[in-house]
Amino acid sequence: MSDTDQEMDTARSLQDGDAVVVTGAARGIGRAIAVLLAQRGARLAVADVLDGAETVALCENAGAEARYFSCDVSDESAVAALRDAVNDSFGAPFGLVNDAGVFPRFPVLETPLDEWNRALSVNLTGTFIMSKAFAPLMLEAGRGAIVNISSGAALSPNRNAAAYCASKAGIVALTRSLALELGPTIRANAVLPGVTETNMPMEGAPLEEIRARGSQIPLGRIGAVEDIARAAAFLLGPDASYITGQGLSVNGGRSFNP
Ligand SMILES: NC(=O)c1ccc[n+]([C@@H]2O[C@H](COP(=O)([O-])OP(=O)(O)OC[C@H]3O[C@@H](n4cnc5c(N)ncnc54)[C@H](O)[C@@H]3O)[C@@H](O)[C@H]2O)c1
Repeated sequence: MSDTDQEMDTARSLQDGDAVVVTGAARGIGRAIAVLLAQRGARLAVADVLDGAETVALCENAGAEARYFSCDVSDESAVAALRDAVNDSFGAPFGLVNDAGVFPRFPVLETPLDEWNRALSVNLTGTFIMSKAFAPLMLEAGRGAIVNISSGAALSPNRNAAAYCASKAGIVALTRSLALELGPTIRANAVLPGVTETNMPMEGAPLEEIRARGSQIPLGRIGAVEDIARAAAFLLGPDASYITGQGLSVNGGRSFNP
């Protein structure tokens, strides 16, 4: 690799002091991603419809600058306001992690259209709106990386979750389009978590039942939020500088859903 190529690779990875926007960061996986990135020297824009004060405090305890922005990712004007506020506070962010998501639970034929639309508009369209808003800042800065949180459900369906599965499969396809059209300046990748211990799976079943699924997983347990956070940090960081358009399954080796 030439020196210039090496410099370009460095430019394509998260550096100390870079800003990262994480949506859905008030709790769960998004919070874990924000806190891990804070521990690793990033400045954090914590975006969510829920209050993100606790996440901000955790990032600050890790020694990082962090700020909460209230934002519904499915609302284009709210996202435009978020982009401007983040740019004013931090300048162009290096990283964007699209984690915000909802999981309506209905049998496919009983899914109300508004619940179908809600899953698509938050999970998939929200990822599109956020990427469309922030990528121009990254392109102008000459560097950036996007990590979209999809799901194992993109590849193998969960029962009673057709809208969710379709939205998460759409995120994988959108990620490839972003990688194709925004390279070489911006890398875009997806993480496909398996069942991970957060509020989301527990809204569908009790914790003991969710944890019991670990016995069917080659690595012997369901995922922890930190497992997913490390994958997101990897995809933003220097070890992933030649990786774009990929979907990384982080599921303990489980390639199907119950
Ligand atoms: N937990 C799992 O088993 C699992 C598995 C695969 C994928 N995922 C994905 O990981 C991501 C995080 O999920 P989680 O498990 O941490 O669940 P969670 O419900 O704890 O977190 C989701 C976050 O997204 C926020 N959010 C929802 N709608 C929003 C909107 N319109 N605008 C901004 N923020 C919004 C919520 O307020 C919440 O803070 C989701 O995209 C989810 O689909 C989770």
